Amino acid sequence: MTRSTQWWQDAIFYQVYPRSFSDSNGDGVGDLAGITERLGYLELLGVDALWLSPVTVSPMADHGYDVADPRDIDPLFGTVGDLDALISEAHSRDIRVTMDLVPNHTSNQHPWFRAALAAAPGSPERARYIFRDGRGPDGAEPPNNWPSVFGGPAWHRVTEADGTPGQWYLHLFAPEQPDLNWENDEVFADLAKTLRFWLDRGVDGFRIDVAHGMAKPAGLPDMDITHNELLINDDDDLRFNNPGVHAIHRRIRSVMDEYPGRVTVGEVWVRDNERFAEYVRPDELHLGFNFRLAEAHWDASDIQEAVDNSLLAVESVGGVATWTLSNHDVEREVTRYGTEAGASREVGLRRARAMILVELALPGTVFLYNGSELGLPNVDLPDDALQDPVWERSGHTERGRDGCRVPIPWEGSAPPYGFSTTPDTWLPMPDDWADLTAEAELEDLDSTLTLYREAIELRKTRPEFAGAAIEWYGAPPECLAFRRVGGRLSCVLNASAEPVALPGGEVLLSSAPLIDGKLPADAAAWLA
Ligand code: NOJ
Repeated sequence: MTRSTQWWQDAIFYQVYPRSFSDSNGDGVGDLAGITERLGYLELLGVDALWLSPVTVSPMADHGYDVADPRDIDPLFGTVGDLDALISEAHSRDIRVTMDLVPNHTSNQHPWFRAALAAAPGSPERARYIFRDGRGPDGAEPPNNWPSVFGGPAWHRVTEADGTPGQWYLHLFAPEQPDLNWENDEVFADLAKTLRFWLDRGVDGFRIDVAHGMAKPAGLPDMDITHNELLINDDDDLRFNNPGVHAIHRRIRSVMDEYPGRVTVGEVWVRDNERFAEYVRPDELHLGFNFRLAEAHWDASDIQEAVDNSLLAVESVGGVATWTLSNHDVEREVTRYGTEAGASREVGLRRARAMILVELALPGTVFLYNGSELGLPNVDLPDDALQDPVWERSGHTERGRDGCRVPIPWEGSAPPYGFSTTPDTWLPMPDDWADLTAEAELEDLDSTLTLYREAIELRKTRPEFAGAAIEWYGAPPECLAFRRVGGRLSCVLNASAEPVALPGGEVLLSSAPLIDGKLPADAAAWLA
């Protein structure tokens, strides 16, 4: 651990979705000991840090994003001792470990929320959450018209101790995830305790869930609702990005600053660049997720715009750009690119391989989602396997996010592919993944895993990757080409249907074999 305190500025983070990574105890759900057993693989891949999606105590209404005790590990995943072991083993391999932190809401099973339900309206217990009387003569209408992100209203009416219908509480996500009242100082005091609890155990930082949430507008006014789909994020959505959020981030940062070398990255769904930049001012978050690249279509100008926008978003505050092609909330890139007009899964994989070269050529911090290095597609799950609360809450109109959360195939030719010892994995695994296991891909020089390993190795070792700026240069139609201003690495992407000539220079790596020296369609190359 000798690198700089700002190690995260060009780091490659690997997001582990713990339920789906590796199951050490045969219950069909991944766990911490499973992750520790696989650290050798992650070291071989070459990542600098892990981001663990929530492993704290949770009834799992939203798979851990409903936290009932933020300072203990859920038995499903192991113990605090298992996390200690993971951290120390990871550190000995020079891999840092960051955890998810969920400050916007708790579980409805959190002792605070249970106490709030047992207490009377107006009590200090209720003041930790956002309880309001309903509208209408009997208070039978919700306090405002906000929808929950997962569908249905954002308010749930409680039954008071005397059995009568009572107040309503706010839940921007599932009813099992009541929103905390960030105007109550107890809430920050408790979060500070949580931050220190894990930082003292050696955690290297936090991914902050809904980092543009927490603060709510005064008076909780009605909003103009035009649509309310998951991951459609409007800057004029009153539920998020209220100016009061920045004071909260400054308080979080003041705790983080007591621990040099630790990092925060916020989930910030804010489109306007000036408002996005506010989150990564020097006294707020270290990093903010920018999702433009994950949203870009397979189109050279769309991708170029996403890159420019992400760089521009942090420029005014001297922040570090972040790059994400996928995570546990979005469709996997192989499927995204493979379902655009005229494409197929095979084409989707070619494009995903090309995009990892674009992503890893860029200056800033990269976030990889587990399984992307194997080229995993989304899985079409049967209705009765679906577990995402979105499926029920939307009245079975949105299938939710389970398709990108299917367990990782490690070895062998049939489910559960070494993920677990039981075939009864928490989400069923497809029968046709034998070629996509880590074992199969480690041995295959043309595999996606090999491409990732080579690309990460080059990015870490070659001087061409120096410098914080890029410049675009002329490229054929439906292609893009940029250069790192410092080290002069060139990256060329061919999103057209025909092979294109490459500029002069040594080809360091390409996502598909060149054809007579030309870059084929749906491919990218790096040149020195
Ligand atoms: C964002 C997380 O990434 C997502 O998985 C979760 O459902 C919501 N926040 C609510 O915590």
